[in-house]
Amino acid sequence: MKLKKQAKAIFSVAGGKGGVGKSIFATALGVNLARGGHSVALVDLDLGAANLHTYLGIIKQTPTIADFILKKVSSLDELLIETSRDNLRIISGAEFVPGMANPAHWMKLKIVRHITALPADYIIIDLGAGIHFNTLDFFGMSDRGIVVTAPEPGAVMNAYSFVKAALFRKLQGVFKKHPDIGPIIEAKTKNPEEEKKFSLEWLTEKTKDLAPDMLPLIEEVEKDFSPALVVNRIDVGGKHVLVDNLIALCGKRLGISMKHLGNLPDVPFIRDYLLDIPGFLTAFRGERYLEAVRGITDNLLPAEQLTVPAGNVKTSFDDDELEEITKFIETLDESIFSNTNRNTLKLRLYFKPSEVIDYLISKGVTHKIFYIND
Ligand SMILES: Nc1ncnc2c1ncn2[C@@H]1O[C@H](COP(=O)(O)OP(=O)(O)OP(=O)(O)O)[C@@H](O)[C@H]1O
Ligand SMILES: [Mg+2]
Repeated sequence: MKLKKQAKAIFSVAGGKGGVGKSIFATALGVNLARGGHSVALVDLDLGAANLHTYLGIIKQTPTIADFILKKVSSLDELLIETSRDNLRIISGAEFVPGMANPAHWMKLKIVRHITALPADYIIIDLGAGIHFNTLDFFGMSDRGIVVTAPEPGAVMNAYSFVKAALFRKLQGVFKKHPDIGPIIEAKTKNPEEEKKFSLEWLTEKTKDLAPDMLPLIEEVEKDFSPALVVNRIDVGGKHVLVDNLIALCGKRLGISMKHLGNLPDVPFIRDYLLDIPGFLTAFRGERYLEAVRGITDNLLPAEQLTVPAGNVKTSFDDDELEEITKFIETLDESIFSNTNRNTLKLRLYFKPSEVIDYLISKGVTHKIFYIND
């Protein structure tokens, strides 16, 4: 099937704790981008506890992501529903369906492939609370993960646990087949005391001993994994010691830098608009919240330096395809690797396949696996 990346960026909104304002923020971000003339697809991937559609006033029965998971439709874009706002469409999440809250890994990859191909400038994925594997996986697969928290101890601790779990999950995925590094990451996850000591720095040290050729891959994770932070229910520009601690902790304990995109004000009257968040944003009472969302959007967009890939080059590959490309790279002439080296390129492939494919194509190297089969 023809699956080509259309969006400039895929954002996911998560945060560990329930009820901190993730879905309302995801909706508001979508409304704001749509008002700016961008086409936006909101996707509710809070599998099993979906409610994003209600914030857009969609209360009648519509197709949902369950229809895709249960194979009633073959393509995700068939599920896009118009909303009351121009440029803004949504794929509704499903009510609880047995087995659906935990789709198999291949199904998650299929969902991501189809999300990537949705016809929109920006895609915003709303994720559920908690640290379920599917939440972590969807978070890790998006271009930019946004963590929403409230300035309260419980929420901040949950946000930290979420970021840590997402980093762990990412590293587990990257190194799952590595005979030395895979098991040491696995062992850390089994023991809570050991888990506390986990950081990218620790992994780097271990890797120096066990498999130094893998160090570029850790650097790649470090560069690529940079969740952004939005703090809800605190004045714009306001500082909070717990939030500062969270950012410091992510840096010190995990070795990752988290960008604070901005705050959202506490707006109790939002409760009057829970079936019409777009209406709230254009109402006088929603002005402060909308202004804050605008600031966050401005901080978010320059951060993504993503371009829409040209032509019919694929942007995502399954494990078998990646393996085949790795073998193909083995066969290439040394002169292809003038600015890099063969091993680094193979490692990068698992992380940023598009960049590697673009590089190879720029060197005049092609393979039919790079392209979409029409
Ligand atoms: N900025 C805000 N000011 C006041 N109340 C808010 C604000 N943001 C969210 N709320 C309140 O919090 C409730 C939950 O918001 P929302 O559904 O966005 O949270 P969530 O994090 O997506 O929850 P869940 O984890 O259940 O998916 C809303 O019903 C609203 O009443
Ligand atoms: Mg929600």
